[in-house]
Amino acid sequence: MKLVAPTSAGKARRLLPISPATRRAGLAALITIMALLSLPFIVRLDGSPHGNWQQFFGRFHPLVVHLPIGLILLVPLLEVFGRRRPALREAARFVLGLAFAACLAAVTLGYLLARGGGTSGATVTLHLWGGTLLSICVLVCLLARPAWAAGGASRLYPVLLPCTLLALVWTAHQGGSLTYGNGYLTEFAPGPLRRLSTTGVAQVPTRFQDSFYSMHIFPVLNANCVSCHGSHEVKGGLRLDSYELLMRGGSDGAVIVPGQPDRSMLFARITLPTDDKHFMPSGGRPKLKPNEVTWIKAWIQQGASPSAVSLTGVSVASDSERPKELPLKPVGDYSAMMPEIRQMEQSQSAKLVPISSNPSDGLVLTTVDVAAKFGDAQLAQFQKFAPYIVEAELGRTAVTNASFDTLSKFTSLRALHLEGTAVTGDGLAKLAPLSQLTYLNLSGTNVTSAALAPLKAMKNLHHVYLFNTPAQPASASDAR
Ligand code: HEC
Repeated sequence: MKLVAPTSAGKARRLLPISPATRRAGLAALITIMALLSLPFIVRLDGSPHGNWQQFFGRFHPLVVHLPIGLILLVPLLEVFGRRRPALREAARFVLGLAFAACLAAVTLGYLLARGGGTSGATVTLHLWGGTLLSICVLVCLLARPAWAAGGASRLYPVLLPCTLLALVWTAHQGGSLTYGNGYLTEFAPGPLRRLSTTGVAQVPTRFQDSFYSMHIFPVLNANCVSCHGSHEVKGGLRLDSYELLMRGGSDGAVIVPGQPDRSMLFARITLPTDDKHFMPSGGRPKLKPNEVTWIKAWIQQGASPSAVSLTGVSVASDSERPKELPLKPVGDYSAMMPEIRQMEQSQSAKLVPISSNPSDGLVLTTVDVAAKFGDAQLAQFQKFAPYIVEAELGRTAVTNASFDTLSKFTSLRALHLEGTAVTGDGLAKLAPLSQLTYLNLSGTNVTSAALAPLKAMKNLHHVYLFNTPAQPASASDAR
């Protein structure tokens, strides 16, 4: 008598009964897995935007991802409730198949979105790998399920399904960080929970401690730009989370030209009209504060040094000297006045640009295109919108001292640009009712120190710029 030892193939056959059809399915699955794994090497994320069609299809990704999420979550429910109602178990397999197809679509569109939009970075890479891993898990579930459903001994499927759910949660979390910024989920979480999750905000550079860059430029970029231009996500191939990376520039080359703010792409992008598609920070975020823009300009103009401690013409009160800034008062909703505003813009060819999509953030009066034709009479026309105007960009316009009467009605103003105008400062006292005003630029005008005296009473006015005026203090042009 011969003792027949069970062969290893025989053992495998008991775990996963292999028919020719299953073998073919296995082969197809193997090829699919190889293709998925090689995607990151075929579709290279080089940080520069590509082809409009890639972006067109890619932008469906955020919509399509909800499909695999919903379908995958449905599978364990169908399996559990299917113990009582077999029809549900029947459906589980079909839903799993659909989920796999949806995964493939979402991953493909995800790659197009990242490559088309010129996005790269650690979070993007993790998210894409997450999607790939998840698709593979779903595919293996699909293959392993029949053996389990047939009542066999295979434990692969019941173990893999919870792992698939974990991969789903993790991938979705990375995707959420990309869409809403790091810490979106935990921002309002109770304290202990929030501390558990680390946020990806860049560290304040210690190498250039106390330099103007570390104290005033880096914090502005960190707060407003690093969510899209940092280690987690690198839009436009540009990172702004260290001095070296800032100076290295983005996919279109250097963004800072030392000494030449007007030729520096970074400065150009933050000073565009907010509705320009190249405006930064993009994504409908509010523009940088006027004093921040002024610091960046002066810093570039004076050589963009990482270590210079102070800049001529700019003095910034330290936190302890600085009176506490009042919280911004929201302005009323101007939406109802939009038709009237449009009409006014047409007759005056000056613009009222919303600061953000939120009407209570107010409007900016800008005159860039028609500066020379815009004078006291034109400004007076805008008085009826005064409560909604938080910034008035009147630099290099034809306004004169006579406009201080009108401006006294602009009580929501936070920033007033009068640089390069004919004002001499007579009547500046009329600005006293502007309790929200924090920024006043009078550079390049003929204001004298005497004319400035009444401003001392304006407690909220922290930034007065007097570069190139008779009133310019010997060392610094900031009046305070
Ligand atoms: C919501 C995401 C987002 C934020 C926030 C953001 N950017 Fe960008 N930025 C982008 C995208 C997307 C691109 C690439 C497309 C383009 O060039 O407009 C880009 C490109 C740029 C470029 C061009 C890089 C190159 O070489 O082409 C500059 C400069 C820039 N950003 C500066 C900034 C600055 C400065 C801030 C902060 C004040 C900022 N960005 C905030 C998304 C963002």
